Amino acid sequence: MNRPSPAAVDAFVVHAPGRVNLIGEHTDYNDGFVLPMAIERGVTIAVTRRRDRLAAFRSEREAGAALLDLREALEPGRGDWVRYPAGVLAGYQRLGWEIPGFDAVITADLPAGGGLSSSAALEVATATVIETLCGRALDPLAKALLCQRAEHEFAGVPCGIMDQCAVTFGRAGHALLIDCANRAIRAVPFGGGDAALLVVNSGVRHSLADGEYARRRAECASAAAALGCSSLREVTPAIWSAGHHALSALERRRATHVLSENDRTCAFVAALERADWPAAGRLMHDSHASLRDAYEVSCRELDLLCELASDMPGVFGCRMTGGGFGGCAIALVAAGATRAVMAALHEHYRAATGIDAEMFATRAAAGAGLLEA
Ligand code: GLA
Repeated sequence: MNRPSPAAVDAFVVHAPGRVNLIGEHTDYNDGFVLPMAIERGVTIAVTRRRDRLAAFRSEREAGAALLDLREALEPGRGDWVRYPAGVLAGYQRLGWEIPGFDAVITADLPAGGGLSSSAALEVATATVIETLCGRALDPLAKALLCQRAEHEFAGVPCGIMDQCAVTFGRAGHALLIDCANRAIRAVPFGGGDAALLVVNSGVRHSLADGEYARRRAECASAAAALGCSSLREVTPAIWSAGHHALSALERRRATHVLSENDRTCAFVAALERADWPAAGRLMHDSHASLRDAYEVSCRELDLLCELASDMPGVFGCRMTGGGFGGCAIALVAAGATRAVMAALHEHYRAATGIDAEMFATRAAAGAGLLEA
């Protein structure tokens, strides 16, 4: 997909993908490594310029239109889904951009609340709409950071930078190794070979998700501080062995997850680069176990999906993806086994939980951009 064209246009369509994270979970806000990829599903916005200064949002999933008056500085406070686009519009307003009025019709083929970054996709799609209407574009990292700030301030979620970066920088056929300490991004070829990626929606979203996310951030920050570091990324093996006795048992578990997950993420990239799928699968398995036991962000349904999948022929590895407490798992599967694994997983999961799990195979997709003008 293309970046917004420099000439402002009157009617156009933008698309922003969702994402999965292959490995590197709950490491982004600890200045660590993550390995997300954009997927072949996402959020699409059809836009028509208006003559007034109103932004009218319609969604196929919601009744009626939400109107925002762009002559006024937009402030946080809405409780509905329009807070995501409102937060992004506010970010560009603060930069002094005069945003013209527009009608936006939003469609999505991402499961809402499925942990595939439908909110980051909506944010980055909105940013792409604004840039296309205005005929100019921010630097892509500044765009991703603006969207992250919208999520912090307008949705109240203190997320890291992974999701907005994955949606902005996604590249077809590649996962993105992001070093969240300096936001350096390396595209790592993924897919098209002997392994396929399945996304499996557990169909549950436990309500403690939001408060627990902020709590994990705080626990990691206090563990880093107790070790005399400004983030867990700075913790070397020497600092750890000298200082980990000073941590509470809980802080020690959280920090152990983050430190080991950073190592697993780098090892996973090395495994991808030599197409060593069994090694990659074992790292996914270990990542899930650490998220379940040390970081405590999994849930019964995600654990079950991973256990079921891991026992199936053709599955290299399976783990939860994203923030946790429900949402999706991903499975790395031998390319020829995808259909059989999907059928068996669906059947066994339904037998155990009564839930019809939505699942699909995806390749790594391109980031947000203009589809047609
Ligand atoms: C959510 C957040 C991300 C990241 C993941 C966990 O998706 O938005 O920033 O922290 O959880 O890896």
